Amino acid sequence: MCAAASSAPSSVPTSNTAHSSPPGTRRTAAVLVTGAGGEMGHGLLKALSDRYDGTGTAVVAMDIRELEPAQRALCRDAFVGDVCDTALLERLLAMYEIMEIYHLAALLSTRGEYSPETAHTVNVTGTLNLLRLAAEQARSHGARVKFVFPSSIAVYGLPDLATKNSVPPLREDQFCEPITMYGCNKLYGEHLGRYYARHYRLLAKDRMDRPIDFRCIRFPGIISADTVPSGGTSDYAPEMVHAAAAGRPYSCFVRPDARIPFMTMPDAIDAIVRLAAADGTRLTRCVYNITSFSPSASEIAELVREFFPASEVSFQPDAARQGIVDSWPAEVDDSAARRDWGYRPEHTLRSAFESYLVPRVMAHYRGA
Ligand code: SER
Repeated sequence: MCAAASSAPSSVPTSNTAHSSPPGTRRTAAVLVTGAGGEMGHGLLKALSDRYDGTGTAVVAMDIRELEPAQRALCRDAFVGDVCDTALLERLLAMYEIMEIYHLAALLSTRGEYSPETAHTVNVTGTLNLLRLAAEQARSHGARVKFVFPSSIAVYGLPDLATKNSVPPLREDQFCEPITMYGCNKLYGEHLGRYYARHYRLLAKDRMDRPIDFRCIRFPGIISADTVPSGGTSDYAPEMVHAAAAGRPYSCFVRPDARIPFMTMPDAIDAIVRLAAADGTRLTRCVYNITSFSPSASEIAELVREFFPASEVSFQPDAARQGIVDSWPAEVDDSAARRDWGYRPEHTLRSAFESYLVPRVMAHYRGA
């Protein structure tokens, strides 16, 4: 079991229906979401439960903590346990025929720098376990298993601020020299996915060709109106918005000129669903950049002050976290995603505030 599994009990199914299929019967087809209780899982479970409602395919969740009741209600089954718990993964396989995996579980960039080896275990060993599970599933039911993997702008590592400020929006294959353990792990996860998708057991006589349909998005920072992130380095943007809505002062841990790409959570969820559903013959890559807007921290603060006039935002940069943000690109080139699978974010920075963030956070914090 991963050291990062917190104090949550391992391998506890929280379903009324949890049982192994009787011998000789067909297992229920399922879509598995790991890290389902996290920020992205929150939105994705709803999208998947809408997508699979009435199809006979079960949505099965896994997280190191119990899901909130509203999230739990969106799944057929929910398992409390971590992605390094191979006994739990075996039990899942006994119960479900996994057709698709959304592997969201990860330990993010800031938290990872406090315990890099734990981050490695969760982010790499966990990903390897899920990829192997997907490949075994593909062999057992004779059809490719779709594996959707969120990667991150953390895979980039620009050498200095002058380079960051002078390069054009980065393509997927440029400056991939991450400075955080999380970035290294995500970059390796991308390579593992490509290996399992195209080359797995290269020399084995009984190998199945291309057992996994691996699809990966490199996400920018994500801002959700419904949840506050924890353990990331792009957290200053959502923290600023949520603090203002809650009436709390906020001290931003990066400089006013710090600039990285962001997007809203609904656009992120839409992108995952869209890539998962895309015609595979049109996909020219395993890994795609996407982005919506690239504001500086001070531009975000200005909008926060405009929409929450009583808000108090100050800047007290933390040199180490600032260093991480400085190593990430100001902008990424997402033309491949737009061309291959029709990626189109709905929100600009202003419309994100006007039509998504402000109404929802105000409703949440003020009951408005
Ligand atoms: N949000 C992530 C982090 O800050 C980056 O993808 O670690």
